[in-house]
Amino acid sequence: MEKSKFQSVHSLLLQWYDAHQRQLPWRAIPGEQPNPYYVLLSEVMLQQTTVATVIDYFNRFIGRWPTLKDLAAANQEELYHQWQGLGYYSRARNLHACVATIAQEHACTIPHTPADLIKLDGIGSYTSASISAIAYDYPIIPVDGNITRVIARLLAIDIPLPHLKTHIFKLVTPLQPTRAGDFAQGLMDLGSTVCKPKNLLCDQCPLASHCQSQQTKQQHLIPFSKPKPLKPTRYTYAFWCEDENGLVHLKRRPETGVLANMVGLPTSDWVDNPSLLPAVDPEWRKIPKTIKHTFTHFHLIIQPFITKEIRHSTVFKVKLQDFENYPIPTLMKKVINTCLTLKGTE
Ligand code: ADE
Repeated sequence: MEKSKFQSVHSLLLQWYDAHQRQLPWRAIPGEQPNPYYVLLSEVMLQQTTVATVIDYFNRFIGRWPTLKDLAAANQEELYHQWQGLGYYSRARNLHACVATIAQEHACTIPHTPADLIKLDGIGSYTSASISAIAYDYPIIPVDGNITRVIARLLAIDIPLPHLKTHIFKLVTPLQPTRAGDFAQGLMDLGSTVCKPKNLLCDQCPLASHCQSQQTKQQHLIPFSKPKPLKPTRYTYAFWCEDENGLVHLKRRPETGVLANMVGLPTSDWVDNPSLLPAVDPEWRKIPKTIKHTFTHFHLIIQPFITKEIRHSTVFKVKLQDFENYPIPTLMKKVINTCLTLKGTE
């Protein structure tokens, strides 16, 4: 982008942001400095989750752990528990490791530069840029989905996703905006409230006079994606095993991978084809319902069974009323509720 165009876009966007910015609990009141801990926490939560969902979680986290030092000292189990429902549980583990490193190695001060931030667990190139811009006005433009869309439309770039993002990243890297935090959040707010994926509100856009795709009425066609390959489906059995004292067997998932460290009913291996599922013991009772859950890269179909004994190692027994003390992901809650509702049925 030419310098003069960028300067004009920069000043129009900041004027718009000053008048229309969304009030979000992690944002500073205009004129005040942002709290870098709030910025880091919100940016990690927002990595794969919408603003509307994150608000309640963010408020609960800062209510429970008001400072970075508190979060670094948090009980991991409780942190996972509070994270329940945000999904992508490896983010909770990384967040804890990230704040622990900041507490131990940086005397609780969040690093200022993207280069230092990116060394921390769970902080990639987007998050390092957004934290340094928003918390410290480091002159960088973070490139997320919203910002990619706004800039691609502004400059009428018709490269398909996901290459588009890399292209935009290269394009904006030399630009070093002042008021970088407001500029980034202005682009984010514009992307979510005006320059939306659908139902664009171009008549309200402060950048309309500069928008090259609007001039040719192509804005709703940008960005476009190539058709995605179909997601594969995987299959598993889940086992409800309750002993004579009403204790139910639970199992913790491995430390890495999907649903890392979360707790749920024991399952068989997750396989790519139902024919690879284990043989069914005649003693097991099949629950007449399956649960389907969609992860980023695959669907999972879970068939619950009521079993008498458990063949898994490392299971532990928990009373139903104590389930709430464990980090049980939403998907497993669905399976558990299905078992509870249907375990009496033949
Ligand atoms: N998405 C990611 N970070 C955000 C922020 N700080 N404000 C609004 N939306 C966001």
